[in-house]
Amino acid sequence: MTLDEIKKLLSEMSLEEKAEQLVQLHGGFFGDVGMITGPAAEFKMDADQPYRTGSVLGEHGARHLIDLQNRMMAKQPHKIPAIFMADVIHGYKTAFPVPIAIGSGFDPDLAEEIASAAAEEASAAGVHATFSPMVDLVKDSRWGRCMESTGEDPYLNSLMARAMVKGFQGDDVSAKGKVAACVKHFAAYGAPVAGRDYNVTEICEHTLFDEYLKPYRAAVEAGVKLVMTAFNTIDRKPCSTNKRLLRDVLRKDMGFEGVVISDYNAIGETVIQGSSEDRRDAAKKSLEAGCDIDMMSDCYLSSAADLVKSGELSEDILDEAVLRVLILKNELGLFENPYKDASEDAERKIIFSEKFRELSRRAASETAVLLKNDGVLPLSKNGRTAVVGSLADDRLIVGSWAIFADESKTVTLSEALKEICPETKFELFCRNELTDTELSEIANCSAVVLAIGENQIPTGESMSVADISIAQKHKDLFEKVISANGNTVTVVFGGRPLAMPLIAEKSPAILEAWLPGTLGCLGIADILFGNVNPSGRLSMSIPYCSGQLPISYSQFMTGRPKPDTDKFIRYVSNYMDVPNKPLYSFGCGLSYTKAEYSGVTLSSSVLTPGSKIKAEVTVTNTGSMAMKEAVQLYIRDVKGSVVRPLRELKGLKKVLLAPGESKRVEFEINEDMLKFYDADMNYV
Ligand code: GLC
Repeated sequence: MTLDEIKKLLSEMSLEEKAEQLVQLHGGFFGDVGMITGPAAEFKMDADQPYRTGSVLGEHGARHLIDLQNRMMAKQPHKIPAIFMADVIHGYKTAFPVPIAIGSGFDPDLAEEIASAAAEEASAAGVHATFSPMVDLVKDSRWGRCMESTGEDPYLNSLMARAMVKGFQGDDVSAKGKVAACVKHFAAYGAPVAGRDYNVTEICEHTLFDEYLKPYRAAVEAGVKLVMTAFNTIDRKPCSTNKRLLRDVLRKDMGFEGVVISDYNAIGETVIQGSSEDRRDAAKKSLEAGCDIDMMSDCYLSSAADLVKSGELSEDILDEAVLRVLILKNELGLFENPYKDASEDAERKIIFSEKFRELSRRAASETAVLLKNDGVLPLSKNGRTAVVGSLADDRLIVGSWAIFADESKTVTLSEALKEICPETKFELFCRNELTDTELSEIANCSAVVLAIGENQIPTGESMSVADISIAQKHKDLFEKVISANGNTVTVVFGGRPLAMPLIAEKSPAILEAWLPGTLGCLGIADILFGNVNPSGRLSMSIPYCSGQLPISYSQFMTGRPKPDTDKFIRYVSNYMDVPNKPLYSFGCGLSYTKAEYSGVTLSSSVLTPGSKIKAEVTVTNTGSMAMKEAVQLYIRDVKGSVVRPLRELKGLKKVLLAPGESKRVEFEINEDMLKFYDADMNYV
């Protein structure tokens, strides 16, 4: 449709119809029990009213959505098609590694490939929009949703945000295999006080603008179609009714013209948070703030039309929200084809195809992070290898938001090892308690693969912990195994960085496997047996202990910096009981080969306005295996009108190097890279 035709349609709609276009309910309201991703709710509605709403949450499946679309359009006074939105965060049926792993790939091209694959599968199943990428900076692994973000750094998350928006949406979101993307959760949801989900945030303007807002801005610049408001407050104001955040920052400053959707009942919850008098007040505040769609609350349903009738809310505000929703439907081509790509035949051909199975395996091998290797890895292929720990047999390693994945198809670590290396004799002890006899068998093996950490259950929404240490049962298991056999490779699963100082000290090899996805363990096994040279780098620092949280590589200089020593020093900024630095820092990770850096040059040591400096470095693969090296450029602003971080990632290039090959890698340093919000909040 043309914009004029859309505006004409809008002019013919009643107030009730306009309000209903701004409501999104889950499948339970349509007699289907789809994916319920929040608290249960009952709303006063007539039987047909759900069918008159503008979009649906969490439903999927070509046949089902074609039928549901028909049922809804039949009840729509103007036959307006619904948008089907779902949480396809890092894969639909084929689950790829969780986003914290995708970030650890330090490779935006891989992130784009994964998002594109997820879009292809989901759109064949009738999904029109996904609630991804989640770009919230995460510096506190007590918060269970860190697994859902690509990490702690504004630059890396911005790169990943751009790549995933491109992967999901392509250049034309109505094209086959593409879906509308929704960047979330606006804003700074990853910074809840005490790492406890849904809690308030307490971050200053500079931290908000110089760090947390950057990845959302990147997604908006990349053309993301939707932005989701976060549950938390910014400056004591819940995001969904925070007019300054949505109208001044998102709409005016960032130039976002798409649809703003609230998180699940977030508008209704402003009443509980105490900043809205009641649902009517919440509806008024969030519409005036510029929140277009009310997901899973009945604030707009019960009050939006009435607020306009009573003159408390200008109809223009309602119209502007409805127009954005209608424009999104038009961009998706739904007025011409309400079913978009929904096709049972396409589902059969596309979902879980060899192309995506291969990607699931490759993605895991490129995003796992080798933290330590004293030479135990790669494993020899014809040894007698023990595989220990319940996680080696656990299929729940696809991530807590892989809600559509078929977990029965997950390949476990023990299955993957046997598939990759049939010539190896594997002794399986896939549990966390071992008898003395079993320990003596383990002692006689040439090597041990020990799987510890967390499966997908203890991370994800609302899964906050106060203590991020590896579980005691795993520490005990580790102690027994390492004393039985020193050649132990520790494979750590989990959606959050876990504190593991004891393991870091004693295990000769540690591989951070994250939650690798449906076929990800094949990729992990590829690394363990040397079929793949690991190239992942941590997207989120692994702390020494919970007490260091929140932590990131990008620290600030204090007035009393700690000199480079492990000793405690009085009257400087340090702890008496643990180091200041994380156990393993953002950006670090090993390969089986070493990249040597030499010949760092700058084309000039002075940057004048409008000019550029070329920074170059030679990277050489000194080993006998091909390697991928994530070359990272960090910049420090030594003096500013406000304190400035000690290091900020400002450039990243992942280069492929043949054995012995050298490459000259260059970065351009320009004025934009050096900008920050000065003492008066000017971006200079
Ligand atoms: C959940 C999550 C959000 C998700 C939404 C819809 O509460 O916070 O990330 O997209 O509801 O499922």
